[in-house]
Amino acid sequence: MTDPQRVLLILSGGIAAYKCLETIRLLRRAGVAVRCVMTKAAEEFVTPLSVSALSEDKVYTDLFSLTDEAEMGHIELSRSADLLVVAPASADILARMTAGIANDIATTVLLATDKPVMAAPAMNVRMWHHPATQANLKTLQARGVTLVGPVEGDMACGEHGLGRMVEAQTLADAILDRLKRLRNADNTPSINELTGKSALVTSGPTHEPIDPVRYIANRSSGRQGHAIAKALAEAGARVTLVSGPTRLPDPDGLETIHVDSAEEMLAACRNALPADIAVCAAAVADWRVAGQADQKLKKEAGGLPSLTLAENPDILATLSKPGIGRPALVVGFAAETENVVDNAAAKRLRKGCDWILANDVSVGTDTFGGDRNRIHAVSEHGVEDWPEMSKEDVAAKLARRIGAYFRQ
Ligand code: CTP
Repeated sequence: MTDPQRVLLILSGGIAAYKCLETIRLLRRAGVAVRCVMTKAAEEFVTPLSVSALSEDKVYTDLFSLTDEAEMGHIELSRSADLLVVAPASADILARMTAGIANDIATTVLLATDKPVMAAPAMNVRMWHHPATQANLKTLQARGVTLVGPVEGDMACGEHGLGRMVEAQTLADAILDRLKRLRNADNTPSINELTGKSALVTSGPTHEPIDPVRYIANRSSGRQGHAIAKALAEAGARVTLVSGPTRLPDPDGLETIHVDSAEEMLAACRNALPADIAVCAAAVADWRVAGQADQKLKKEAGGLPSLTLAENPDILATLSKPGIGRPALVVGFAAETENVVDNAAAKRLRKGCDWILANDVSVGTDTFGGDRNRIHAVSEHGVEDWPEMSKEDVAAKLARRIGAYFRQ
């Protein structure tokens, strides 16, 4: 039995606080210990008694309570959790977090913590779009605070738009996902490690059109690239994710640019420069159809159509070229079926990137579209064999390596 992971849930004032009751229940059912802090405003929406009953723990509401301080000082409270979650995160608490104000127990705990912080914003659409709120969010994200939501929808105030807090289950899933990655300390980038850095990540397959309805594609799921974009954002980097068509939702807390073909992907990458870091995880099609048909190819036209292929631009090689705009660190992937490390080392030199993460995709491995990866990280210093792990853990480990690279 391992110790349960611990979440400190900070409820601020908003009608969405009612959703957190269900989130607490879901977390408890998943075996997570939940301790709650409530602002005065939160107490207007849900009662400490309900929160305490569901979390099966004492609820902290008062900074100057002698009993609370005797039981657990507020500094200790902020440090005894694996993850701090602010939900609902009102415009007010986000502003106070940004300014470093500590005028109640919730904000004091947030200022005193050395643990990762996640926030689920909930507010009126105009408050969400207000430049003050947007500027605050930018600052908080640059400090490593990750966001879940908000989503668009009808609001309690009668308006419609962006600002609704995500549903209880979505919030619980995001928390459990983050806790899972935090469990493996080696794979956890320390918070703020990449603050001030910008990163460009490519992900997913590309679709190369044959005619207006048909295309050439591959089986890439985009999971590895999306996980890397998320891990870099969690480490504080400003991330642009350039994604080919996938079934994955856009990760929270970063900018996702959707493209179809390799040429579009290259153009989007060029646009995203300058960047300090580039990670090319996309499975870019090596070829496109030369002279793509403007009209749908018809069977009646007689005979079998023959497709002439043209070589696609190599995005990784283009980004690795020395000159204006080369990111300080360029990382590529190599999918190999034999001589994995040798081929990857040759590919690193050929493409001019700094690191290649090679994975074995020979028969019997389940890398493409699968959940796990076994990486051999090749750099100028040699090869590091990583144990088999989930794509999320690979992403977190890579983020940690990148953090260490910039610390040197
Ligand atoms: N890549 C790219 N643009 C391309 C092709 C590949 O950016 N047009 C990047 C991929 O994102 C990945 C690396 O290059 O980071 C993989 O290189 P690639 O030569 O395609 O390797 P494999 O897919 O392993 O193919 P091969 O062994 O046939 O060269």
